Amino acid sequence: MNKCVKIRVPASTANLGSGFDVFGLALGLYNELEMEMVSGDSGVCIEIDGEGENSLSRDKKNLVWQAALKTFKAVNFPHERYGFCLKAINRIPLARGLGSSAAAALSGILAANAVSGNKLSREDILGLAVEFEGHPDNVAPQLFGGLCVSVMSGGIQVVRLDPPKNLKAVVCVPEFELSTKKARAALPAKISHKDAVFNVSRSALLVAAFGTGNSDLLKIAMSDRLHQPYRKKLVPGFDAVLEEAYKAGACGAALSGAGPAMFAFVPSSKVSQVGRAMERGFASAKVRSKSLVLQFNLKGAEVLSK
Ligand code: HSE
Repeated sequence: MNKCVKIRVPASTANLGSGFDVFGLALGLYNELEMEMVSGDSGVCIEIDGEGENSLSRDKKNLVWQAALKTFKAVNFPHERYGFCLKAINRIPLARGLGSSAAAALSGILAANAVSGNKLSREDILGLAVEFEGHPDNVAPQLFGGLCVSVMSGGIQVVRLDPPKNLKAVVCVPEFELSTKKARAALPAKISHKDAVFNVSRSALLVAAFGTGNSDLLKIAMSDRLHQPYRKKLVPGFDAVLEEAYKAGACGAALSGAGPAMFAFVPSSKVSQVGRAMERGFASAKVRSKSLVLQFNLKGAEVLSK
């Protein structure tokens, strides 16, 4: 019995400024994973092309494989009776705040679920992926597409919204990496009541901005006192990138996830100039970067059977 599935998972940008660990938006940049399962215990082989091809492990510690193993266990699938060949084509830059680790976990879970008989619901898949990530803000939009509001409350509540129709995403990716662990370690254990109110009001305004389609609200709605003020010391050029992005016509801009990439909502007519402006912002801090103009992804992860 040979089975082969192909999975496509989008990148994502989390937080959107004020919605720390809550908001996430799927982006039109994709990792692909092919998983082939053959009869007989011939072990696992892992091929990686693109991002991380020189750094990601190709042995049993590989995150995609770990996620697949967790899935086989969850559905009681006797994976040890089979051999597996995994081929990953990675386009999502690693450790930049674009959801590469969530995408790796999700692709492993979706592939393992597909070859073992599709026993898991989308909610089960979300739950397994969140166990890897610790928070749902990248996994939810990668799985469901669009703009997701995710809340951990015993289970995981996800509400999917449509991203702004008249805007595109510009992402500016600096050459250096920043681990989520280090970016989370920079956060204080406590914040003031005033700062909590600041963020609650902005993140409520962000939902209102998406609900009404009023992109003039985004600049205020994406401002934040929960994480960016503490993380920006780890991201040289942070203030300059924001300033340049707004000067060039961005409607709203923020650190992408835990960073160090920066994200902006931009009217279609201004995407090139905003991209160049964000690169100039990083350059002012002597950081090389590359801007990408991306569509929003609306479909989420797809299982494309071969
Ligand atoms: N919400 C997360 C953070 C995203 O900012 O740390 C990174 O996974």
